[in-house]
Amino acid sequence: MTNNKRQRKKESVVHLAVIGMGTVGTGTVRVLEEHHREIESRLGCRLELKTLCSRSIRKHDLSWLRHPVEITHDWRRVVENPGVDIVVELVGDVKAARAIAQAAIREGKHFVTANKRLVAEHGMELVERARAAGVSLGIEACVAGGTPVIHAIREGLAGEHFDAVYGILNGTTNYILTEMERRGCGYQEALTEAQQKGYAEPDPTFDVEGFDARYKIAILAMVCFGQPVAVESIPVEGITRIETVDFAYAHRLDHTVRLIAGARRRPGDKVEIFVRPMMVSRSSQLAKAPGPVNCIMLVGSKGGSTVLTGRGAGGEPTGVAVLSDVVEIARAIVSGSSTSTPLGYANWHPVKVARAGQGETAAYLRLVVRDRPGILARVAAILARHRINIDSVLQEPAHSKHRLPFVLTLEPTREKHITLAVAEMARLPFMAMPPLLLPFAQLP
Ligand SMILES: NC(=O)c1ccc[n+]([C@@H]2O[C@H](COP(=O)([O-])OP(=O)(O)OC[C@H]3O[C@@H](n4cnc5c(N)ncnc54)[C@H](OP(=O)(O)O)[C@@H]3O)[C@@H](O)[C@H]2O)c1
Repeated sequence: MTNNKRQRKKESVVHLAVIGMGTVGTGTVRVLEEHHREIESRLGCRLELKTLCSRSIRKHDLSWLRHPVEITHDWRRVVENPGVDIVVELVGDVKAARAIAQAAIREGKHFVTANKRLVAEHGMELVERARAAGVSLGIEACVAGGTPVIHAIREGLAGEHFDAVYGILNGTTNYILTEMERRGCGYQEALTEAQQKGYAEPDPTFDVEGFDARYKIAILAMVCFGQPVAVESIPVEGITRIETVDFAYAHRLDHTVRLIAGARRRPGDKVEIFVRPMMVSRSSQLAKAPGPVNCIMLVGSKGGSTVLTGRGAGGEPTGVAVLSDVVEIARAIVSGSSTSTPLGYANWHPVKVARAGQGETAAYLRLVVRDRPGILARVAAILARHRINIDSVLQEPAHSKHRLPFVLTLEPTREKHITLAVAEMARLPFMAMPPLLLPFAQLP
């Protein structure tokens, strides 16, 4: 039977295989076991777990499964099994994930993944292969875990023209920042606690330097604008330079500090994309997402902003997202319909990424100096030379004269001018550490 014929055939049982029985694989199967009645009544047919695959599957205790299933440590046996309709890939490693995706699609299987790196780096390849094979792709779990943002963009807001998308997309950094803010503790203390609670990896670089959020915003930009984005073209800045004192100053300005991943349209049909810590108004929904929670603001030209908040990680919440893709695909199999637009677009256009620093922004500039007379005059002279107006000067009391922080807020100016001025300031002899520049997020 050809792939398309398989898809058009009306099924009364849809067969599923899960490859990778780690945190998300186990969470997915557990949710399926617990929710199978609801899922099947939504589907109107049986959804049967046929095969579980993991390298060490024989060591797993699977006594909690309702029915015995086939097990294997070899993913090739799964994708070649003619009885499997949907392959769910949850192995983590991008090379293995890509090989599984290619083989599964080639064999005419519908394919679901939670691998953000696979989709951000090879999404277009998967789309082309899926389209040629007449199979569906599910990527809901790649961004914001259990929060259904991909479905919201692809289905719920399919009639919208998106102007921008902004998100708190990394639970680790949001936990660290919200704990620093809530308890007044330092970055290192909040990170250590996040590691103890399992919110941060022993090596936290991927999260705290913003790389995880960069993959996710690449995917959101892709599905919002129909334009694939090269991940390396997205400028990224992490949270390691944020200090407790930044929250004290931010509060005086009725703002807070958050790691924002954003993509917004710019003149000339361009898109500006970034991951960076920003000053966010405390009244914004993005400022209110607590701890490891994710929050995404979709800005449409007609509907205004739509905000989704929810669990961004964890086996079972992410398992729910995986299963929502499985249910959608199973519905199409049951109804005999085919998927002609994997990931929501029939036509994709290459993105024109706007150069960083071209837009105007108001900014927060924290300087830490070895105190002596004339500092403010030297700093103000540099700003004046770059035609940057100071909006306010703030100084919290009771800091050491050898490491004295103070803050300037700057009126809206083209960011590249601010960056040049800050580079000049960094060379001043009384600077105790490099200046910290945080733009004020322009959120609706
Ligand atoms: N963890 C989360 O909260 C979360 C949230 C959203 C998305 N994701 C994404 O979901 C995916 C899975 O993450 P995870 O946290 O569940 O990872 P994990 O706990 O490390 O689990 C990965 C599993 O895949 C198995 N595996 C690895 N290579 C394999 C191969 N070649 N063949 C068969 N099995 C293989 C491993 O096998 P053995 O243990 O049997 O050796 C392991 O059980 C990743 O892409 C991740 O980015 C995770």
